[in-house]
Amino acid sequence: MKYFTIAQITDLHVGRAINFPSGEVKLFDQLVKTVKHINNSDHSIDLVAVTGDLVNHGHLDDYNKVKRELDKLKCPYIIVVGNHDQRQTLRQIFHEHNYLSGNGEFIQYTIEDKPVRIIALDTLEPGTHYGLICEKRLNWLDEKLQEQPGKPTLILMHHPPFETGMPYPDNLGMRGKKEFGALIARNNQIVAIASGHTHRDSVIGWKGTVVYITPSSAFSYSLEFNEVDDLDPLQEPPAYRIFRWDPAIGLVSHLDYIGNYEFGLSEGVPKPPEN
Ligand SMILES: [Fe+2]
Ligand SMILES: [Fe+2]
Repeated sequence: MKYFTIAQITDLHVGRAINFPSGEVKLFDQLVKTVKHINNSDHSIDLVAVTGDLVNHGHLDDYNKVKRELDKLKCPYIIVVGNHDQRQTLRQIFHEHNYLSGNGEFIQYTIEDKPVRIIALDTLEPGTHYGLICEKRLNWLDEKLQEQPGKPTLILMHHPPFETGMPYPDNLGMRGKKEFGALIARNNQIVAIASGHTHRDSVIGWKGTVVYITPSSAFSYSLEFNEVDDLDPLQEPPAYRIFRWDPAIGLVSHLDYIGNYEFGLSEGVPKPPEN
């Protein structure tokens, strides 16, 4: 296999409906569009990673709807737990996804048979919106990283492990950043960390790797650097991220927008301006 292509979709929040001045948007409809977009793309996607907040309120019928839709994907998919998710319900609904029950309390697992090794982490702290990597989860990660120190590795986690500079999402961010960061810094096989949760695109060079926050495939929040009590949902173009592994280049990330956008006419090959 020359290329290996992973699509990351995140923060589906099915079960929520948002009123915009132009009308109501049901987030289940956004998931339908996302699945269609990925299935119709010609990007040769090998695997879809769904990095948390699959539903908004934890309702069983919403999880069932999400599963029915994700099962329409033409390629396999994996699930990472988010702060709006419930571990037991994920295990129950996605019962044929054996990796969800593999490691006791937490939903942490590795995918080994791909050109890029994938390690999925569980940052859920039930009953809160902030995230946590506790000692137990960190020790598990340490063990897994030591197993294959030379293999290019992508870490998937719902909560970003760094401060974004936006106070609202940072207050709902992950606890245990310092210890986690020290472990990441000791492992130079980590080619990227992919997260979600803030519903905005952010990227940082951090602890010797690159950490991405991928925007929601359903709705965004505004870019807000001030302290605010609440954030209103924003109707920007929904997006997802593609990670394309080319052994000759490395892991390149591409943001792709979900929906149909118009092409303009090309000017042809650009020529230098005349003096
Ligand atoms: Fe979310
Ligand atoms: Fe979240």
